[in-house]
Amino acid sequence: MTAVEIQQIRRKLPEWVAASVPFAEGGKVASYIPELAGAPHDALGITLINADGDLITEGSCGRRFTVQSISKLFTLILALMDIGEDRVFEKVGMEPTGDNFNSVLKLELVRPGIPFNPLINAGAITVSALIRGSDPEEKTERILQFMRALANNDHLRVDLDVYRSEADTGNLNRSIAYLLKQNKVLDGDVEEVLDVYFRHCSIAVDCADLARMGLVLACNGTDPLTGKSLIPRRYVQIAKTFMTTCGMYNASGEFAIQVGLPAKSGVSGGILSLVPGRYGIGVYGPALNNKGNSQAGVHLLEIMSRELNWSMF
Ligand code: DON
Repeated sequence: MTAVEIQQIRRKLPEWVAASVPFAEGGKVASYIPELAGAPHDALGITLINADGDLITEGSCGRRFTVQSISKLFTLILALMDIGEDRVFEKVGMEPTGDNFNSVLKLELVRPGIPFNPLINAGAITVSALIRGSDPEEKTERILQFMRALANNDHLRVDLDVYRSEADTGNLNRSIAYLLKQNKVLDGDVEEVLDVYFRHCSIAVDCADLARMGLVLACNGTDPLTGKSLIPRRYVQIAKTFMTTCGMYNASGEFAIQVGLPAKSGVSGGILSLVPGRYGIGVYGPALNNKGNSQAGVHLLEIMSRELNWSMF
């Protein structure tokens, strides 16, 4: 079955990617972080990897881009591994917001003012403060080491141009962080926490890195190609549940219906997805829809899920 499916994917993927590229037309490359604005509007790439190490790539998959919000998954998992779920969920909730990823609204509206979930900006900034480490450098280095292990790639680095660009312009995130500090949700020095957040959002990857990280999640925390156990099963379960309920922000419901797979997007146009037990998937398509998800990338995953009957539901 899997070998037959792999052949089918190899045969059909060029056609599926070509059919999805025109969807970039209606999307916009993120420009609120100035350094992201120059990304190629029509690029679309995908890499899939399975537990036997079969790797399939198509389109602009060699390009490097910053993970942005996809990093929020891995900082959540690292915080869970560092301090355990009871302490993490004292600070962030488990519910979708239905609001934009950078919204401040519910922090004011709903008491006790903790972020609804760890995948919105408020939640991820809060989680950045929970990562172990004596200073921002050590925390960032631990996040990098964790992501390098998951991607099986020692070369992952922070893209300093994107980091500086976001740090210079990230006033909305700054206001979210100060509000969290005022509400006693955020521990530690606000600017130091933001520094860790901006840096982990700026880690540069390609589709193959995302696919390999997705494969570890697909295989419940073990990298099937090295045999290394990298994440406890329980924390993978938590991460995959958040991916399903909140991973595509306020388009997570629609994505669950149209694709039916756990996924996490970022504003540079990346999507990390997976087929449980089978594939890790990395997608790159910088033109975004109005919810902040890759327009062509989402379309490509919709086609693949329908054609290959991948929905979990
Ligand atoms: O904080 C920000 O706005 C970015 N560093 C990350 C946002 C993001 O990727 C949301 N994605 N859809």
